[in-house]
Amino acid sequence: MSDTSRRKQPEELRSRRWFGPADLRSFGHRSRAMQMGYAPEEWQGRPVIAIVNTWSDLQPCHVHFKTRVEDVKRGILMAGGFPVELPALSLSESFVKPTTMLYRNMLAMETEELLRSHPVDGAVLMGGCDKTTPGLLLGATSMDIPAIFIPAGPMLRGNWGGKTLGSGSDSWKYWDELRAGTITQQDWLGVEAGIARSYGTCMTMGTASTMTAIAEAVGMVLPGGSSIPAADSGHIRLCSESGRRIVDMVWDDVTPRRIQTRAAFLNAINVAMAMGCSTNAIIHLIAMARRAGHEIGLDDFERASRKVPVIGNVRPSGKTYLMEDFYYAGGIRGLMATMAEHLDLSCMTVSGRTVGENIAGAKVYNDDVIRPLSNPIYGEGSLAVLKGNLAPDGCVIKPAAMDQKFLKHAGPAVVFDDYPSMKKAVDDESYPFTPDTVMVLRNAGPQGGPGMPEWGMLPMPKRLLKEGHRDMLRMSDARMSGTSYGACVLHVAPESYIGGPLALLRTGDIVEINVDARSITMRVGEEELARRRAAWVKPPARFERGYGFAFTKHIQQANEGCDFDFLRTDFGAPVPEPVI
Ligand code: FES
Ligand code: MG
Repeated sequence: MSDTSRRKQPEELRSRRWFGPADLRSFGHRSRAMQMGYAPEEWQGRPVIAIVNTWSDLQPCHVHFKTRVEDVKRGILMAGGFPVELPALSLSESFVKPTTMLYRNMLAMETEELLRSHPVDGAVLMGGCDKTTPGLLLGATSMDIPAIFIPAGPMLRGNWGGKTLGSGSDSWKYWDELRAGTITQQDWLGVEAGIARSYGTCMTMGTASTMTAIAEAVGMVLPGGSSIPAADSGHIRLCSESGRRIVDMVWDDVTPRRIQTRAAFLNAINVAMAMGCSTNAIIHLIAMARRAGHEIGLDDFERASRKVPVIGNVRPSGKTYLMEDFYYAGGIRGLMATMAEHLDLSCMTVSGRTVGENIAGAKVYNDDVIRPLSNPIYGEGSLAVLKGNLAPDGCVIKPAAMDQKFLKHAGPAVVFDDYPSMKKAVDDESYPFTPDTVMVLRNAGPQGGPGMPEWGMLPMPKRLLKEGHRDMLRMSDARMSGTSYGACVLHVAPESYIGGPLALLRTGDIVEINVDARSITMRVGEEELARRRAAWVKPPARFERGYGFAFTKHIQQANEGCDFDFLRTDFGAPVPEPVI
């Protein structure tokens, strides 16, 4: 890939269409660049590198991008490129409502169109908080100019009075303890102040750490980059190195689609399984693969989950450790070296080297954190895909992060049509929940949610908590946070809002799950289901105008990656380069 005979010449640079010609338009582009104080020597004949930065004042996970971007620029300048920063939607998982998933595709479109409409030759993508990683990668892949991804890095471990705290997971855990009366309000305030103590992304194996690991496994991050804690000086060096590297990638024309082959996506699925990944990985990986022109579906995940065990002992699938421990134990290079037999080592990456070359010599320094394949924390992959009359197009569960007694279970459904009525019921101690109850929430899918919010870890009923129960079977067409845990069936497809069979379930029906057999069914006869289907009425429209209106018209179901239909690579003719 670094074959110098194929290197681009300066006159072949894309940005030259803006800056090169001796015409009136280019006069405008050059004079406006000079208006900003740049002399022609600073950009002429040099790759113009867009830095798509998802920093904002309401994005706590990307706070450090405000200064890290200067390190990226330093790298680009050193290598002879010309850096330009292009801010993009910051998609803070904590602040954006109703859910960032509503806007992942908006960031993807923004990224693609930012790159298309501006005079740029390559892109550095700065993201990491959950949806920002797939959002940036989806857009860059569709645009297909050379691109490299810089993950924000996980934040430091949380701390409360000497106890380690994990993002998300410990909020749910101590919230349940507070509701059960086993910790005080004062304790709870201590947890609140200590759980997020540095910039960076959630430091459990939530969606952020899952997706940045996937970005690296698919070849889009420099080796080891996805495990470096945000506050480590190694992260600063990653930024400048990525800046240096992208300039060479432009000269060598290393585009995302050359890296993101089908084999690279299968590597990413296997790494995700071994990491104990977030369930969200499925949706984003399917969307990413389809943008790169590969048909990846739930069956690919199911195959991987049967053969790749969970060896990353990071919460919530793991019991004790967090991303900081994972980094000290050897990080993703250590993990990938450990599971090398499940990887195609010949896949090319942004480093200009293969996966095999990237992980050569990688060591594991703590084999309790990164377990050998012979001593996994869970014998199968972290996700299982279930099918049956409740979910003909599939649904997902995370067997590694739940009470094992619910792997095979049958119990009566208690069905809620919206989040507020469910919330009221779980706080009502007289509501007749039993440990066998299968709690169901519907109208929480891609269209119904809208945007498929992370409601899938339905709160445990107060009554059961007080009786000492900490898990029960729950089911929805929503997603759940990667930092969540429990016997939660998610992503039911098709969703209930559009009339999927979940819409036909009634309180009292027996729901049966068998994870080993990968099945989920309601014990309701075909005739009765037909009667209920005939009587079903579609709930009212969620949006009458605006972005949400377009979203509900074009969003695809969970098993298809929740991409907009018109953004798929195989949709219509390619988008032309702009007329300049
Ligand atoms: Fe940003 Fe979790 S809130 S990564
Ligand atoms: Mg999350």
